[in-house]
Amino acid sequence: MRSKVVEALANDGYLLDQEAEEFILAQPSPLQFARQVIPQIQYQPLVVTLRDLRTVVRVDAPRLETVVRPEPASVRRIGEVQVMKDITAQSDCLASVEGFARYFQDRFANLKALLLRRRDMMGAISIQRAMDPNKLQADEVKVIGMVNEVRDTRSGEKIIELEDDTGRMTVMVPKDNKVAKDSVLQDEVIGVVGKMSRRDRKLILKDLIRPDVPFSSGMEVTDSTAQVALMSDVHIGSNTFLEGRWKNMVAWIQDEAKDRDIRYIVIPGDCVDGVGVFPDQEEELVIEDIIDQYRALAEHLKDIPDDIRIVMQPGNHDMVRPAEPQPALSEEVARLFDSNILQIGNPAYLKIEGRTILSYHGKSFDDLVNGIKGLSYSAPLKAMEEMLKRRHLAPSYGGKTPFAPERRDYMVIDEVPDIFVTGHVHGAGVSFYNGIRLINASTWQDQTSFQKMHNFVPDPAKLTLVHLGTGKMAVADF
Ligand SMILES: [Fe+2]
Ligand SMILES: [Fe+2]
Repeated sequence: MRSKVVEALANDGYLLDQEAEEFILAQPSPLQFARQVIPQIQYQPLVVTLRDLRTVVRVDAPRLETVVRPEPASVRRIGEVQVMKDITAQSDCLASVEGFARYFQDRFANLKALLLRRRDMMGAISIQRAMDPNKLQADEVKVIGMVNEVRDTRSGEKIIELEDDTGRMTVMVPKDNKVAKDSVLQDEVIGVVGKMSRRDRKLILKDLIRPDVPFSSGMEVTDSTAQVALMSDVHIGSNTFLEGRWKNMVAWIQDEAKDRDIRYIVIPGDCVDGVGVFPDQEEELVIEDIIDQYRALAEHLKDIPDDIRIVMQPGNHDMVRPAEPQPALSEEVARLFDSNILQIGNPAYLKIEGRTILSYHGKSFDDLVNGIKGLSYSAPLKAMEEMLKRRHLAPSYGGKTPFAPERRDYMVIDEVPDIFVTGHVHGAGVSFYNGIRLINASTWQDQTSFQKMHNFVPDPAKLTLVHLGTGKMAVADF
């Protein structure tokens, strides 16, 4: 029966992964069930997984057999917090033309693989094949490429120069196609669907496909009772650090941690104000030595109950290389902090009580607000959606986000997180995107003279809580 059902579904165009197959075969009428349920999946995946099925039917958590897998030596953890991926101690950077070429190849290969998993990119061919004079008669072609250049013509069309490992092509977006008004970023990896024009071998675009994240119902309820608190941009050392409101927050945690089961805190960057980050910064510093700033932060964090695990990530003000991905703070700095504090890189994937958290400081907001129409510093959650659609934390190279050409592209969002947290813009907010909890964590710094000059009003002194069992989010204001 197994092969009959699987074969019939394959003929319908549905491929199943093993878990999905087992689940379907366990139903009383597997084929009928599958044909009824799979078409309801909003985002039609190339290979249907159990996660996809969960978006449309109830799938009880399988009884997991205990498989003891040895942890790789590089796994760092503190209690239930585990670093799944970051650059710390993994750097393999080659700062040369060759190194950049290698980096972009890795980025392209990763994002192409994500695009190929989409049903609507099934049958994608290389640029070389699409440009083949004998192929030009084909009705429709699908191609995946990295954007080399984008320009808008005076008559309202958009021209995209696309590149893959076999060649380059020009994609013409007619002005009546909605993509003509869309923001396509340099270096993002996209799928294009359209017809080749015989005359000039340009692809006339019909659809633009981004890798995106599959729609899911989000965090299924587990029996965890713990909560994780998210706070960012402490900026200790600055004369605008809101010490009073910080102390109110810490006192609240001391009172509430037990009742609310607050067991974890994640700080996504700009832990201290740093030195020499912007011109004349010393005039705004109350602690002029960066190590002293970290010492002061370590003192402030001592007021938080010892059984709360604290995860510290660097940002663009911290004492690590500014180029992303950034490694964790050095041993010299880490030593200043208590043993309940874990230093991680930026970005980083964390696993806490079974939940996947992607934490990224958010320096690339500076480029995204310039590159994508309709985005602004006051709406960072929208910018986070744009990252997820492109499955990349910093899609464009050459702007304000410095990056290191590592062998692997750590900025690719290869795994879909349950929770995605950023800081950097000193705003505060929560929302959802395709079932993922998006959090822009608030700051503990008041408006700076720079922000005043640019008419930017921060939203400081808020603490976001996420319940790891139910996924419920709440914001406490201090
Ligand atoms: Fe900041
Ligand atoms: Fe920042």
